[in-house]
Amino acid sequence: MCGLPADRRALPLTDARNLPWPDSVVQAVITSPPYWGQRDYGFDHQIGIEPTWPEYVDALVEVGREVRRVLRPDGCLWLNIGDTFNTRTVIRPSSHQAGLGHDNESTRLSWAEARDRGLVRYSARQPAMKDKDLMLLPMRVAAALVDDGWWLRCDVIWSKPWGAPENAPDRPSRYHEYIFMLTPTAKTKFYKDRCPEAARSVWEFPVGVGGDHRAVFPDELVRRCVTLSTDPGDVVADPFAGSGTTPRVAESMDRIGWGQDGAPSEHYR
Ligand SMILES: C[S@@+](CC[C@H](N)C(=O)[O-])C[C@H]1O[C@@H](n2cnc3c(N)ncnc32)[C@H](O)[C@@H]1O
Repeated sequence: MCGLPADRRALPLTDARNLPWPDSVVQAVITSPPYWGQRDYGFDHQIGIEPTWPEYVDALVEVGREVRRVLRPDGCLWLNIGDTFNTRTVIRPSSHQAGLGHDNESTRLSWAEARDRGLVRYSARQPAMKDKDLMLLPMRVAAALVDDGWWLRCDVIWSKPWGAPENAPDRPSRYHEYIFMLTPTAKTKFYKDRCPEAARSVWEFPVGVGGDHRAVFPDELVRRCVTLSTDPGDVVADPFAGSGTTPRVAESMDRIGWGQDGAPSEHYR
């Protein structure tokens, strides 16, 4: 294939709204953008710390346009997004930021410090939300992508046998996330028979583990999406690659794995 980067394992560092890849070459994008209002990754143009949720949705629609540019017409976008509740919250630093660790109490920001750095979320200023509402952000993003021309072919529920404990006493604890299957056209490469464990829309496996880079994909999630929607030799890419799970797993399955991220990750190899 001409026009592809010679060193496909290099990790370009660009905004996901301006991807470093040519048009119409990627067979599957398997990705998880930052969830809204949860992490400060510590760099300009990061997605996820927009002051309001509609700005976050708009940012992901822009990413979606860029993903559609690089996807082949029969390609597929697997989009994993977590939800959150409409509460007043301090946005925590990510381990991207040298010297900071979100599990280290001594480096946690106070409300006043976080507010001065623009790293707080106010429930009161979120349009169309009441305090404590589940925000339905995955659905709002999916609906906005459909409005922008995508086909939403399936919502997969990723059921987690265990996860971070939630301490809300007045509602059930949530142990699932969504993985949306979105396509740029109505006709997609798809091999349901190759992956019987993924043929139904509820997938169960634990969260990923990997260094101190949080929100790492489980290898199994990537393996299922690759098996369902690509052939050996196809390009599989992740514009929010983080620790590089998608390209690593894709290459282990004889696909061409591309990753890129807005910030370097010391765990990407
Ligand atoms: C949830 S993590 C992805 C983790 C990844 N799935 C893994 O297995 O390690 C989200 C990533 O998005 C990156 N990010 C945030 N804003 C970005 C932007 N505007 N463009 C590209 N990457 C961005 C962060 O640096 C972070 O690595």
